[in-house]
Amino acid sequence: MRKTFVAAGGAAVVMSVWIGLGGAGAGTTLSPVAVLAAADTPRVTFAKDVAPIFQARCQTCHHPGTVAPMSLMSYEETRPWARSIKDRVARREMPPWHLDTSVGIQSFKNDISLTPDQIATIVAWVDAGAPLGDPKDLPKPLTFRDEEWTIGQPDLIVSLPKPDVVYANGPDWWVDRIVEVNLPEDKYIKAVETRVMGAGRKVTHHAIATLIQEEDARTVGGGSSADGAITDVNEGTYLSEYAVGKYGETFPDGSGRIIKKGAKVRLNMHYHAIGQEVPSMTKVGFVFYPKENPPTHFLTDVFPHENDTIDIPPGAVTRTDAYYRLPKNARIASFQPHMHIRGKAMCMEAIHLNGSKETLSCVDRWDFNWHVMYTYNDDVAPLLPAGTMLHLIAIHDNTAANRRNPDPTIWVGWGQRSIDDMAAAHIGTEFLSDADFQKQVAERKAKLASSTSNNQNQ
Ligand code: HEC
Repeated sequence: MRKTFVAAGGAAVVMSVWIGLGGAGAGTTLSPVAVLAAADTPRVTFAKDVAPIFQARCQTCHHPGTVAPMSLMSYEETRPWARSIKDRVARREMPPWHLDTSVGIQSFKNDISLTPDQIATIVAWVDAGAPLGDPKDLPKPLTFRDEEWTIGQPDLIVSLPKPDVVYANGPDWWVDRIVEVNLPEDKYIKAVETRVMGAGRKVTHHAIATLIQEEDARTVGGGSSADGAITDVNEGTYLSEYAVGKYGETFPDGSGRIIKKGAKVRLNMHYHAIGQEVPSMTKVGFVFYPKENPPTHFLTDVFPHENDTIDIPPGAVTRTDAYYRLPKNARIASFQPHMHIRGKAMCMEAIHLNGSKETLSCVDRWDFNWHVMYTYNDDVAPLLPAGTMLHLIAIHDNTAANRRNPDPTIWVGWGQRSIDDMAAAHIGTEFLSDADFQKQVAERKAKLASSTSNNQNQ
């Protein structure tokens, strides 16, 4: 089932994605792990083996009062979902970490994936009839603090002027709300979080906060212009996003984003009606660096994207390429693909100055429900000199085998609606001076030399 995409006209293997996992064959054995596990594992129980995994990897989302369809807190709540759990876990769709684990950088700050052993345990448990085991083995229950900021108490909270009232029935609704911030001076953001409050989470598909402000010399190259050109007023630098399961972001010490005096926040809302009228309120919280201790590095968002050449005929699997040439030396902090319903997979590669290519990361099970920002660990975050080309390869699947496909018989091109599509990525980037870049490269080399690990760095 493994299919390899080869660059047109060249022998280089650019990417590989799993094809067909979303197909009609659901219910067949899905992974070699599952086969092995069924053979000769000692009896696996919920109490002893599975509950600790669910505490570590599932319950943050699957507890009462969240957007997730069911709670996985207790055995009684979990048992009816056993088959579905096996299916989602074996396909690596749950937890939502859709990274291709066979290629590219594999060390992330926010990795919530299950290990192959954990997957085997869950699959073996379901195959054994999903037994409870001895209740005395159950771990102490976790408690969750909902309705709190995950970034801590914000220094500043910016809200929609009033809740958007989402009608009971109607088409998806996209709306931009511009919110004045009225800062008296520039501030440095240490942490930022976009939150949809209470009942609004049932109808809010996403809320993307962008900053509308003058470009700052310290973050030149950000924004969405493909060549990193400086624009006077940024059309909107990505700031933070609420999407199902996506929480706030706290930047590493010494790193931050700039919010300038006079900045405005644009909240791009995407609502989805659910049969009852729901008022929805969204807020953005900021934690700032103290004035006397500003960050030395500034994180910005580069957004390679291709609109015009997205051409997805009925029944086709297509490839779209997008490019962004780094205008300065850079440290790549994170990768967040952006496609819509027919999105299937995306790779980000670096085309180095000598022409060689390096795959940095691939997502092979793109799922439009999820907007995961894959945040590299500091010791593997790519360090790339000015002039390096970032290259996105987006795969869209408009066949019936894509089980989310609403209609494989129509042509699809670029557009804002979720039934149109996109080929883009938010790439968290710190631009570095030559001296800083050389220093970080030297430190990285020294670290690599002293370790035996063979990772993805230059
Ligand atoms: C980041 C939040 C999050 C985490 C972590 C998470 N889930 Fe989910 N899960 C969801 C949401 C939201 C949905 C519904 C949307 C979807 O299907 O993508 C869902 C859907 C599911 C479904 C499908 C339910 C159905 O309708 O059939 C299963 C099964 C599931 N999750 C199991 C798990 C298991 C098991 C884990 C841990 C190993 C886990 N999830 C971790 C949020 C999460």
